[in-house]
Amino acid sequence: MANLETIYLGLKLKNPIVAASSEMTGSVEDIQKLEKAGAGAVVLKSLFEEEIQMEMEQMKQQMTGKPYVYPETMDYMDEPVEEDQVRKYLRLIKEAKSAVNIPIIASINCVSSQKWTYLASEIEKAGADAIELNMFILPTDFSRSSVDNEKIYHDVVNQVSSEIDIPVAAKVSYYFSDLGPALRRLSETRISGLTLFNRFFAPDIDIDDMKVTNGHVLSSPSDIHLSLRWVAIMANRVECDIAATTGVHSGRDVIKQLLAGADVVQVASVLYRNGATYIAEMLQEVESWMDKHKYATVEDFRGRLAQEKSTNPAAWERAQFMRHFSHFVRHK
Ligand SMILES: Cc1cc2nc3c(=O)[nH]c(=O)nc-3n(C[C@H](O)[C@H](O)[C@H](O)COP(=O)(O)O)c2cc1C
Repeated sequence: MANLETIYLGLKLKNPIVAASSEMTGSVEDIQKLEKAGAGAVVLKSLFEEEIQMEMEQMKQQMTGKPYVYPETMDYMDEPVEEDQVRKYLRLIKEAKSAVNIPIIASINCVSSQKWTYLASEIEKAGADAIELNMFILPTDFSRSSVDNEKIYHDVVNQVSSEIDIPVAAKVSYYFSDLGPALRRLSETRISGLTLFNRFFAPDIDIDDMKVTNGHVLSSPSDIHLSLRWVAIMANRVECDIAATTGVHSGRDVIKQLLAGADVVQVASVLYRNGATYIAEMLQEVESWMDKHKYATVEDFRGRLAQEKSTNPAAWERAQFMRHFSHFVRHK
């Protein structure tokens, strides 16, 4: 019987399938369903920097005339009206921790190292096993260089990891001007994991209404290739764990990412489409494949096709179609 146990961010997971941050991990009931279906861990939906900042503004207004202090103020802000987002989030962590046995990874969306890092220690106190920082800087500010942008990532991870003892992972995009070296530099900070790569809101155009609309919210199986390539390239070249996300839609996809060198995979779209119970099917597929190939543990095959170990490393760097697809059948 295949053993799928995995160590990720120093945490012991019963298998490498992690429910990614999304509304699917936004309530204790959903998290219980995910545990029941077999998820190795869950990443809670993100608390957004904007939400935190809005609250900060409210708190500041309420405290006009008083010196402004961060963490302790939480205890004094016990307003009777509506429970604030931060408090709700901390409660979700606490309740999830007592309701399930799998690791709970909190998630903060952040693009600046300012003001809110106190929240990291509140999250730690609430019992989260780790924090994933969901970071995204679209390089559209023409006055800022790639070095300036990269510095923001480093400032955020350094500041957060200096506040807490639980492991920190950085979930990033591929919008870096020197992706490979930038990911390696990030891995050399105090982070314990890199999540490659987040999927974002993608604008589209409605040509009849002449307006900008939403692109596809959910990924499709063909979206796996970007992260697959970069997981394979970065495996064994970073100083931390790697979680692969985007386009993992089946047990076969899980196996691919593990062969490429991922420590875990994170799934969201497939859970939206098929429900939490689909994790059990994916696990079954991985187990059958491992049995068929006589792999007793995930470590027996993890990274076998990573670029560094591959007998054909150039395949991961091939970019142009050229001769390779010259035989491709054209529509007549
Ligand atoms: C509806 C939806 C909501 C999401 N919300 C978050 C979020 O709050 N924080 C985050 O880091 N990622 C969020 N994601 C991204 C997912 O965690 C995941 O990384 C991404 O969807 C790629 O995985 P997939 O192809 O399995 O969907 C969201 C994705 C979807 C589809």
